[in-house]
Amino acid sequence: MKPFTIEEDYLGEFMDPVNYDLEVGGENPSHRFYADLAKQIRGNVLEVACGTGLVAIPLALQGITLTGMDIVPAMLTHAQKKSEALNLSIRWFQGDARNFNLNEQFNFIYMTGNAFQAFLNNADQRDLLQNIRKHLAIGGVFAFETRNPNWEECSTDLNETEWMTYTNDKGYSVRITETRVYDHVAQVLVYNLYRRWKEENRGKERATRIAIRYTFPQELNALLERNEFQILHQYGNWDKSPLTKDSPIIISVCKLV
Ligand SMILES: C[S@@+](CC[C@H](N)C(=O)[O-])C[C@H]1O[C@@H](n2cnc3c(N)ncnc32)[C@H](O)[C@@H]1O
Repeated sequence: MKPFTIEEDYLGEFMDPVNYDLEVGGENPSHRFYADLAKQIRGNVLEVACGTGLVAIPLALQGITLTGMDIVPAMLTHAQKKSEALNLSIRWFQGDARNFNLNEQFNFIYMTGNAFQAFLNNADQRDLLQNIRKHLAIGGVFAFETRNPNWEECSTDLNETEWMTYTNDKGYSVRITETRVYDHVAQVLVYNLYRRWKEENRGKERATRIAIRYTFPQELNALLERNEFQILHQYGNWDKSPLTKDSPIIISVCKLV
């Protein structure tokens, strides 16, 4: 089996950052969860795979000192534009989470927006966790969430289904549909997304795809243990409810062993 990797053009969703924000931006309970942890832990904070700063910027607005890193330059350029407009001094750093080197240790590292699922094979997950280890200060905390696998979502559906409709940066109404293919052995779900809109009566279409890796609860715990992280807390949602089969996400708060 050839492993899935992000090198295979799975980053298309992140090439239009202005519209990315219009599609998925806005208030989210994850902001409060990670802000509370950052305040409790104190010290310097790193967001890995920070995108356009949808979470980093609300944290910085609360006085948290922050560095954000991401692999896609366009996402960081947009993040920087937004933070400068708010007079926030956030350091934005471009790199690959599997091997970047900031030559600095952080008291708190977090990863959100289910970015952990962008690490599509076992080697990538291991490289990510080892690199996070390298950037974590003694006594530091690493927290992240990943979607809790469920059979309904982890399935193939080749019929185009509606995801959402929104108004893009040029004021056009964009309808987004998706098809999905699940590879059970790789535990990777590939979404094909189609954005369709009309500009002066001419139909436009943008097609992208994204792949997300699912990690099952016990597999996740074994992975963290193998990479020498000790799980301090695990939750099934932002309200800190326990993880169950119906939980939408698995949130893990860890420290180094
Ligand atoms: C779903 S977005 C989440 C962004 C942000 N954390 C948020 O919550 O808005 C996933 C992000 O992961 C980034 N990403 C994917 N692979 C990466 C890698 N190997 N290293 C760093 N960032 C990566 C993408 O560029 C994208 O910005």
